[in-house]
Amino acid sequence: MGIISTIRNAAARRIIRSSPRAAYMLQPPSSVSIELTSICNIHCVCCPVGQGKVERGIMTEENFRKILELLPNSIRHIDFTHRGDPSCHPKFPQFVRMAHDTGRTTQAFTNGLILDRHIDGLVESGLTKLLVDVDGATPVSYLDYRVGSNFEKVTSNVRKLATARRESEGKFPEQLFTLCVVTSANEHEVTAIQEFARNLGADGALFKTAILNYGTKYYNDKDEQDALAPSNPDYLRPPRPEGFVCPFLWRGSILHDGRFLTCTADFEGLHDIGNILEEGSYEEVFYGAKARRCRKQIVDHSSPICSTCSVMGDDHFIASASKVFAAQSGHSST
Ligand SMILES: C[S@@+](CC[C@H](N)C(=O)[O-])C[C@H]1O[C@@H](n2cnc3c(N)ncnc32)[C@H](O)[C@@H]1O
Ligand code: SF4
Ligand code: SF4
Repeated sequence: MGIISTIRNAAARRIIRSSPRAAYMLQPPSSVSIELTSICNIHCVCCPVGQGKVERGIMTEENFRKILELLPNSIRHIDFTHRGDPSCHPKFPQFVRMAHDTGRTTQAFTNGLILDRHIDGLVESGLTKLLVDVDGATPVSYLDYRVGSNFEKVTSNVRKLATARRESEGKFPEQLFTLCVVTSANEHEVTAIQEFARNLGADGALFKTAILNYGTKYYNDKDEQDALAPSNPDYLRPPRPEGFVCPFLWRGSILHDGRFLTCTADFEGLHDIGNILEEGSYEEVFYGAKARRCRKQIVDHSSPICSTCSVMGDDHFIASASKVFAAQSGHSST
């Protein structure tokens, strides 16, 4: 870590500890994650949701509308990611449209298995960026991690969406990427996945390092974690740098029932700082006493999940492997 970021992180830690409100006035939160559902339809190897360890729930339209009304103007971006898969919500495209109509950019990650149900809605939804998990160029490598999914169905859904977008009035999502979590099963297929994604009509193929101890409370099989680790060191998630300040301090996740967690890796609800629907306010929760206690634990790395965390925010794309294609549909930026 460079000297500048060391100084900035040390300053950020001091300000957040002494006066969180001042810290956030200097840099108000500009994005938030909203969980449409904690339900998923597949069983990824080390995901607590896929392993059936997470309570199941779904966002109502009434709650979603209220949450949108409560968001402060500083929030310019909504990410439909926390636990579960957004495609498992029957109103996924409608909710994206509602968020888009507030003037914010939007993003979603999906396993893509039932994406075909939503294609007509998505091309008109205003969605800014959609990332569909394609973690292999063959069914064998793909299914190693995405247990219970179907390679042919997912990839055919990406192709259908790319075609529908090209032929639609709406032309959404503005950016359509495949996303591969790199493991020992697929690290040899990086080039093949890039070519495959291009042929499907995606705007690029992104690759990210795997979290091998995702939700350690639920998934603690060290042998299995070691077996998943890629051999190429460039594809391994680096250890947490000295003095690291987690970027999730500026974000947070709103669950389907309005509970606010400071961290999208918090499957256990340990960083629950209150319920914005019950409080009727985003600010009361975001700046409240529980939030202060929780942030102190995060900056000190004393929270039970932060102390072993390798998530550390969500910017873990592998630049040397990720490829954005020259505009094949007029949608080419990341
Ligand atoms: C927790 S998932 C939730 C959204 C959706 N269900 C999905 O899997 O795309 C959000 C992102 O984490 C990725 N992911 C899943 N398991 C992972 C792991 N072990 N390490 C890193 N990222 C992972 C997914 O591929 C997706 O890009
Ligand atoms: S990583 Fe996503 S697709 Fe896989 S089990 Fe977890 S929520 Fe489902
Ligand atoms: S360090 Fe890890 S567990 Fe702690 S807030 Fe950041 S992502 Fe969450």
